[in-house]
Amino acid sequence: MKVLVSGVCGLAGSHLVRCLLESHEGIEIVGLDNLARQGSETNRLALKRLGVQLVHGDLRMASDVEALPAVDWVIDAAAQPSVLAGRDGKTSARQLLEHNLLGTINLLEYCRSLRAGFILLSTSRVYSIAVLGQLPLAPVSSMFTLDPARPWPADVSAAGVTEAFSTAAPISLYGATKLASECLAQEYAAGFGVPVWINRCGVLAGAGQFGTAEQGIFSYWLHAHAARRTLKYLGFGGHGYQVRDALHPRDLARLVDMQLRNPGRGGLQNVSGGQQNSMSLAQLTAWCDDRFGPNAPLADGSDRPYDVPWLILDATLAANSFDWRPSIEIHAILEEIAVHVAEHPDWLERCGA
Ligand SMILES: NC(=O)c1ccc[n+]([C@@H]2O[C@H](COP(=O)([O-])OP(=O)(O)OC[C@H]3O[C@@H](n4cnc5c(N)ncnc54)[C@H](O)[C@@H]3O)[C@@H](O)[C@H]2O)c1
Repeated sequence: MKVLVSGVCGLAGSHLVRCLLESHEGIEIVGLDNLARQGSETNRLALKRLGVQLVHGDLRMASDVEALPAVDWVIDAAAQPSVLAGRDGKTSARQLLEHNLLGTINLLEYCRSLRAGFILLSTSRVYSIAVLGQLPLAPVSSMFTLDPARPWPADVSAAGVTEAFSTAAPISLYGATKLASECLAQEYAAGFGVPVWINRCGVLAGAGQFGTAEQGIFSYWLHAHAARRTLKYLGFGGHGYQVRDALHPRDLARLVDMQLRNPGRGGLQNVSGGQQNSMSLAQLTAWCDDRFGPNAPLADGSDRPYDVPWLILDATLAANSFDWRPSIEIHAILEEIAVHVAEHPDWLERCGA
């Protein structure tokens, strides 16, 4: 089997490649990256040594994609992955649309012409910010939890939001590029018979992630805490009670592996660490205080666009469909990042954070 991994030098892409090479005998991997993500170049040499056929190219350019060798599957792990992209003064809205949406279109056309399958790494940020913002929350043990005394909207439970949860705008420009990509991929599946799997990923976290304050929060927080940088609890009263769950990219890779082996079925599912791997920013700080010594964040109640107080993904559908569960628990993920912190004291500079 020959597989193209776009965004191969990124966090997800580089882990996917390592895992697939271990689990699939004889697999050949072509990896495409434009190295737009600061820090991504650090993965190039190691991937080359693993035998990946690396192509320095840009998904926005149809001619770059058309020139790629024929493959059986495409795993799209390339994107501007920040929820603030298009509004952060670093990437324009048009650039975001070109990277994340035009890039998907070029890959889908490539898949159609080759009759290759397509696996999209989508995001939890396709879910409605307004509906998430209205969840009935109460602080318990320094984290927001769903308040059992008040009614909850449909399609959410303590286990998280399901795939049926509202995707009504606003969902951020980033979320909109992913939702539109999902829709197009499903049309290519229905109209042209392209096998398509869509994985709505929760927060990914692991050692070597290019963390910034806007994206890669677990990695950023640990590196910044240890370096005694100033950290801030933004919004929601400035307490750091906002909650996300974390998934290690190796667990994502196990699921993607199963999808490659089951091309006929196709589908869309949440893929996340879930409730057992969830944590608030305040709890993350407490973990860092224990590990690195104290560095108290500043309370800053000012709102940041698109921030949500609580977002845990319910991955029951993936669990039932594939007998898949995340195997790397959150403290193991944090410990792995902490080791990376000790070995790479200059990491945030390399990431442009
Ligand atoms: N990291 C997360 O928490 C998270 C959560 C949900 C979904 N996702 C999705 O998973 C995928 C991978 O995310 P990641 O965390 O590995 O991001 P990353 O930034 O670490 O990796 C993305 C890679 O894509 C490359 N790239 C960007 N634009 C490109 C283009 N036009 N052409 C070629 N290469 C390009 C970058 O250089 C980078 O190496 C993305 O689609 C992202 O939206 C990530």
